[in-house]
Parts: sequence; C-alpha cells; structure tokens
Amino acid sequence: LHVAVLMGGWSAEREVSLMSGAGVAEALESLGHRVTRIDMGHDVAAKLAEAKPDVVFNALHGTPGEDGSVQGMLDLMGLTYTHSGLATSVIAIDKQLTKLLLVPAGIPMPGGRIVKSETLFDGDPLPRPYVLKPVNEGSSVGVAIVTAEGNYGNPIARSTPGPWTEFEDLLAEPYIRGRELTTAVLGETALGVTELKPLSGWYDYESKYTDGKTEHIFPAAIPDEITAACKQIALDAHRLLGCKGASRSDFRWDDEAGVDGLFLLEVNTQPGMTPLSLVPEQARHCGISYPQLVQAIVDEALK
Ligand code: DAL
Ligand code: MG
Repeated sequence: LHVAVLMGGWSAEREVSLMSGAGVAEALESLGHRVTRIDMGHDVAAKLAEAKPDVVFNALHGTPGEDGSVQGMLDLMGLTYTHSGLATSVIAIDKQLTKLLLVPAGIPMPGGRIVKSETLFDGDPLPRPYVLKPVNEGSSVGVAIVTAEGNYGNPIARSTPGPWTEFEDLLAEPYIRGRELTTAVLGETALGVTELKPLSGWYDYESKYTDGKTEHIFPAAIPDEITAACKQIALDAHRLLGCKGASRSDFRWDDEAGVDGLFLLEVNTQPGMTPLSLVPEQARHCGISYPQLVQAIVDEALK
C-alpha cells in the first residue's frame, strides 16, 4: 500500500505527534508499505492531492488534527483515513460535548462546568480541590489542579502562571482522589487496564513523556469488578461516540468508593503512538507488536 502519514501540524501537541508519526512511518516501512511522511502545514491538501495515497494514517494530536477539521478535509478529498470520522472527532475532542452525549447514556463522568477564566480571580467555581482544563487540548496541556492548600493562591492570583492566562474558557471539574487508569479499544475489543503511577506529582505532560517518570502497571492491580467496569465503559463510550480504529478511555478511580468511585474523564480518538504511549503498550501486553498494531489500525480504515 501507499500510506501517507499525517503528523506534526501546529497544535500544542505537535512534538508528541511528530514522535507518533515517526514510529508509525517506520513500522509501515518495516511492513513493506510505501510511505509518504507529511508534516502538516496549510498546504496539506495540495500535498495529499499530489501523493495520491491509498490510505492516510492520521498521527495528528490535538487541534487541528483530532478535532474533525482534518477529517472533513479528507472526506471532501475522497481519501480513506485511519481512526474516527468527522462527527465523532468534533464531539470527542471537546470534553464538555462528550459529557453531554455520554452522561445521559449512563456513562459515569465527573460533574463540572465551563467557567470564564476571568471569574477565577474572584473566587472558586467549585469546592477545592478541583481541576481546571481547556476543553479541547490533550496530553494534559493547560491542566491545573487547584488544591485545598491554595497552591495558586486563594483566590487564584492573576499573577500566578496557569491556564487562565492562555484560555478564555476552562472546564472546572471536581478532583477525584485515588488512582489513574486507562483502557485502549482496538476495533471492537477493550485490551485491558493500565494503572499510571507518577513517581512524583500527577500524570502531567512531563510525567507522560519522560522515560522513567511514571510507573505503568499492566494489568492494573485493582479488583476484577473495576477492571470489568473500565473495559465495559471504554467499549460503550467507543460505540456511543462512533469511534473507529483505536481509542483510549482515561479514568480516575476513588479506591475508597468501590465501583461508584470510577469516572471516565475523556475518550481520546487519536491516542498517542510514541514509545511511551499506552495503546502500543497495552497491545504489546496482549501479544500485538507495534507494527501489527499499526497494520490493524490501517486494516480497520480499509474495512
Ligand atoms: N493526547 C495524547 C496524544 C494521547 O491521548 O495519547
Ligand atoms: Mg486526552
């Protein structure tokens, strides 16, 4: 096959996408496919029109790339591409839209609301501790955990660096104490549950992408009931959103509250494919090598 690998772009996750794209391109080459690597710029449509690939492997993360924009362009160009389509991407990139769709369907997600960043300096939108995050970023870009101890000031001080200086609106959610869990879905199968234990602090950008900063435990040492619930919720969310190829559902679990303490935070429709990423790692534990995973995602696109 001739595969165009779309990567890079200009989202906040450009560097992550370049790592995902490089891994995917090398795997495709090792499988004997012809690969055109495209670092996405505003001329991406012209480059794709010239390359005329059989299939596009979308290795983009964030906005644009994971948000439906690129998917719409590829639809109009009549090109076949990996991962989710336009409508799914538009919904899943937006953590608040995702809740509006999944919570009424019975998926447990934390409450919360959108707040104007400007109002944070007048007082807290929720009881502390709570989390502030942009609705449509990935890799924990722009996430702040506001603690009861007043780590950013009390009220938050305008002069403290934080996402409020960069984003006009933020999603405020109650902080869920306990454990960080994740489940990959490949095709129609939930692969398993990994627990992420950062050696210090929380599972932020640095802990995600610095080798040795986070312990990955697979299978997670949690009760069978919680493992089963994560897999079922990840599958249900994947289906309800209409995800294709691969997705990854991220959870918080309050281990003092049993199954009622399990909350889905979000569904990633363009999960990372870097050497430290979780979908390739879960696949490997399930006997699926990195090249086999890449081929499986391509096969799903060609179905
Ligand atoms: N947003 C990053 C790439 C992930 O979900 O893995
Ligand atoms: Mg994400």
